[in-house]
Amino acid sequence: MSEELLGQLDRLEAEGREAIRRADTPDDREEVRVRFLGRKGRLTGVLRQLGTISPELRPVVGARANEVKEALSELIDAASAKADYAGAEEPIDLSLPGRRPWQGGRHPVTLVVEEICEIFRELGFVRAAGPEAETTWYNFTALNIPLDHPAADMHDTFFLGKDVVLRTHTSPVQARVMETHEPPIRVVVPGMVYRRDPFDASHAPGFEQIEGLAVDEGITFVDFKATIRAFVERFFGPDTKTRFRPSYFPFTEPSAEVDVGCQICGGHGCSACKGTGWMEIMGAGMVHPAVFENVGYDSDRYTGFAFGMGPARIAMLRYRIPDIRLLYESDVRFLEQFA
Ligand code: PHE
Repeated sequence: MSEELLGQLDRLEAEGREAIRRADTPDDREEVRVRFLGRKGRLTGVLRQLGTISPELRPVVGARANEVKEALSELIDAASAKADYAGAEEPIDLSLPGRRPWQGGRHPVTLVVEEICEIFRELGFVRAAGPEAETTWYNFTALNIPLDHPAADMHDTFFLGKDVVLRTHTSPVQARVMETHEPPIRVVVPGMVYRRDPFDASHAPGFEQIEGLAVDEGITFVDFKATIRAFVERFFGPDTKTRFRPSYFPFTEPSAEVDVGCQICGGHGCSACKGTGWMEIMGAGMVHPAVFENVGYDSDRYTGFAFGMGPARIAMLRYRIPDIRLLYESDVRFLEQFA
């Protein structure tokens, strides 16, 4: 009798395999599953007869029945998986790495700020910071700019209160650093500054500056020029020309504006440099003795130089960005080019 049941199981397995082979659709496969393995299916039919055989043989038949059940369900699952795979529009290559969504990148101005600070770090300058809401003392008076002097107008100022402004430059941090530290001082100060300028292709009401300050005994104009020249050659390339033009700032004497050979035309003259072959990158000079006196330094003992540059303008030169507004409008189509 158990022989008989084992024979039934063999036939059931063979017929099940054949039925699975012929089942083309998910519905067909489900029908096969129900017919062979379902609660009222053929396998159950065989198991119902277990009671008719001797108790010692039941486990043998039971084990064989499980084997058949597992073999058939695995075949049905495999057939379904294969059909899903073949049915996909393109075969899926599971060995390919996943697609990474764009996660953002550093802003072009940040890239320029980081690079400039790194170059100055190698020259011995450390980073410092100061507040964006600044008193008129630090923003103007300490820097030898009397409030009724036209120089205070030079920056069209956002006033937050009678004596508080949005800083119009990073130079107030010069005074803050000197007040709290003794020479030797070598700092660079990146940060935002604000001016009541129209928002157009070449002006923004808020933009970045990097201030630099070096103070010690015996610092000369030669140190100033050599430091700036070393920076320009590192940042713009070893063949870049540098030009120091006399200028005026109340907090430096003498003062200079620093030009580099036009990065776009190489100095021949183009629309970007208005035909001059030069592009201005910073205001600078030797620290005015009055500034030293204002922060309590002995102006007979100490000398130094300071500079201020606009990394947004420099990013525009470097990446040939035609309109400064692109830097402040957070358009991902623009920003993702720098990721
Ligand atoms: N603060 C000046 C400006 O904003 C730049 C400058 C800094 C000039 C340091 C000289 C020395 O235009």
